[in-house]
Amino acid sequence: MSGPAFPVLPPGFRFGAATAAYQIEGAHDEDGRGPSVWDTFSHTPGRTLAGANGDTAADHYHRHREDVRLLHGLGVDDYRFSVSWPRLLPGGTGAVNAKGLDFYDRLIDELLTAGIAPTVTLYHWDLPQALEDRGGWRVRDTAEAFAAYAALAAERYGDRVHRWITLNEPYCSAFVGYAEGRHAPGAREGRGALAAAHHLLVGHGLAVRALRAAGDQEVGITLNLDRVHAASDRPEDLAARRRAETLHNDLWAEPLFAGRYPAHEAETWAGLADGPWRQPGDLSLIGTPLDFVGLNYYRPICVSAAPHREPDPERRTAVDVGVAETDPYGTRHTTMGWPVVPSAFTELLCDLHVRYAHLPPIWITENGSAEADTVTPDGLVHDPERTRYLADHLQAVADALASGVDVRGYFVWSLLDNFEWARGYDQRFGLVRVDYGTQTRTPKDSYRWYRDLITAHRART
Ligand code: NOJ
Repeated sequence: MSGPAFPVLPPGFRFGAATAAYQIEGAHDEDGRGPSVWDTFSHTPGRTLAGANGDTAADHYHRHREDVRLLHGLGVDDYRFSVSWPRLLPGGTGAVNAKGLDFYDRLIDELLTAGIAPTVTLYHWDLPQALEDRGGWRVRDTAEAFAAYAALAAERYGDRVHRWITLNEPYCSAFVGYAEGRHAPGAREGRGALAAAHHLLVGHGLAVRALRAAGDQEVGITLNLDRVHAASDRPEDLAARRRAETLHNDLWAEPLFAGRYPAHEAETWAGLADGPWRQPGDLSLIGTPLDFVGLNYYRPICVSAAPHREPDPERRTAVDVGVAETDPYGTRHTTMGWPVVPSAFTELLCDLHVRYAHLPPIWITENGSAEADTVTPDGLVHDPERTRYLADHLQAVADALASGVDVRGYFVWSLLDNFEWARGYDQRFGLVRVDYGTQTRTPKDSYRWYRDLITAHRART
């Protein structure tokens, strides 16, 4: 073994790697796929770094066999990928695209042959453009359409896929997409974003029911709940933390796991009234018990109080909760600019465990780091920072387990370098390097470390 010592995880703990359709597949207009909001957004000048888009990405659509071989070589138990809604339903609803269905049949069968269990995310941000044209997540019809798509996927793949994730990081879909405009569809609307947040949760609840109706399935949702620190103990900074927690955590976790809307909404959404989008019965739908909750964790945030700003088209977000982010951590940062603080991961897990009596078992559905990888003349990628990041964060999970938190498994983000949304191709998260000119795949040192960790875990348990 070379690299950091292997964290010790309990028997039965599962290891995986994760990807998402738009970030790796490419083949954006092949075999009947319809456009998604990310096609439109990334083709709009000025929206993504250097005008990058997912037209080709890591060309996984054509190279899935090779990518499954890489997963097999890694020895993972599980692979988390997302199905592209506009590949199955090019118009979002209605006509089904048989070739799109076939693609995931092939992928799933290859995974099963390799002894790898599929974990399928239904929505990793690629909303069919046709649905955005009819209001997107601002309107309730999109939640209904999502449930119909979930039923289609479950009916087709439910004999072979037994673990499903409805939504990936609905916080980003609602607020980065509809309030900050940094992600597709690039809107800056206060009420639109809050309506989107609610309709995403309603869509989740409807999809859970559709998936369960299709058979005995494990169903969950993936959230990016944050560990939020306050910059000081001053009352105004503590209040700022409460508002940030309402936005990042409570808006999602309270309806999902406690059957109520967040307590501190009035002070958080200053000026944005409670909208008509919340209907009687929604809380019980959203709170349908889950088999697991997926958490994506990368870094903590620290906030201080900042004045709410007046509406201004140039401002950064249309949902201004009156906080400023600070960075007191004094640690290394990844190339995303994110501070590396593994202890905050343990804090987040332990806090959730204490706060929610009905929290389902946890899966870490993403964790990883973007680094400035280089290829040596002999074709190797030495990425000790990434390996150290993974080792320290797996140790943070082990620490949470030791405190009684029920964590079942862990997915590295990501198997491959890929399209990092508005940040384009500069940010490399993969265990495997992708040369976008040739589409050559090169396993990095971190790939071998993770493989050896899994082997050691199996030998020990
Ligand atoms: C979370 C998202 O789910 C994923 O798509 C993204 O690439 C990673 N974070 C890294 O930013």
